[in-house]
Amino acid sequence: MQQITEEEKPPGLTPLFRARNIERALKMNRVFFKFEGASITGTQKDRISSLHVRRAIELGYDTIAVATCGNYGASVSYFASAYRINSVVATPSFYTNARSDEIYGNGAKIIQKNMKYEDLVEYMKDKSRDENWYDCSPGSVNSIIDLLGYESIANEIVQQLGHAPAYVAAPVGNGTTLAGIYSGFMKLYLKGITSSVPRFIAASTSLGNPVVYSWKHGFRKIQELEPSVIVETETNEPLVSFRAMDGQKALNAIYDSRGVAIGVNDPEMIKFSKMIENQQSIEVLPASASALSAAYKNLSNRNYGGEVVVVLTGRGH
Ligand SMILES: Cc1ncc(COP(=O)(O)O)c(C=O)c1O
Repeated sequence: MQQITEEEKPPGLTPLFRARNIERALKMNRVFFKFEGASITGTQKDRISSLHVRRAIELGYDTIAVATCGNYGASVSYFASAYRINSVVATPSFYTNARSDEIYGNGAKIIQKNMKYEDLVEYMKDKSRDENWYDCSPGSVNSIIDLLGYESIANEIVQQLGHAPAYVAAPVGNGTTLAGIYSGFMKLYLKGITSSVPRFIAASTSLGNPVVYSWKHGFRKIQELEPSVIVETETNEPLVSFRAMDGQKALNAIYDSRGVAIGVNDPEMIKFSKMIENQQSIEVLPASASALSAAYKNLSNRNYGGEVVVVLTGRGH
């Protein structure tokens, strides 16, 4: 297992705070927000892209490449520019990619292909091998770093809260973020630093995600969906997929923690992101607000002990 050294530690230390207005609005107890939108480029992706860029340099690459729906590309190109290596960011041409100006501004070469995201990941795998680029797309040969990077979210939650919460709710696309947070909590538990592991509430789009589908239908093995059944929208872009690269790990985390996976539709994501803005004065991506929507669906009217930490993965602008 690769170890992250002190020097390699990912950026982080995002705020954790009690969302008392949301508690009142939703009649829920002890809701905390872990606001990843406060990171440098505004999403949790900074935790892994910084590690990938440094690893790429260490291994002697001059170019880092990624297939992305936008947020990861903004993050990878930012750190590539900061560490002065080239970046190549590939997105499906039909994606809105609200962050393309930023990616371009970071000096990245942008590739747009008329392919679904999952096929683009495969395309970039081959292209990176041919061009001798370091590939940091989900599921790449370098993806061991991803889980280690996201474990830092669990470490911070425990440092900030003083113990493990009863529940953690997080949005799921490929499942990498949730799997990494779970792995972090497991390590803390096994080291005796915490006395329990939270139950995981996985939130994703109701318009197509293998983790939600597999959990709902009781599959222990992640099921790939028919590409034609998923419906991509501007709102669900970070979450929708027919193949989740770390879906099996996320599914295991949900079962092992006695958690749930919940589908959230676009109007619900938008409603909850507006509620977060109105009640707590922070702007979050609707896809990130899926985590609060799922926590509400799962926990409202229930007398749960302890806290629920909602990981808000990205800021609105
Ligand atoms: C803001 C945001 N939240 C959540 C996710 C889903 O994360 P994962 O693919 O690790 O499940 C993404 C993925 O792109 C994202 O950009």
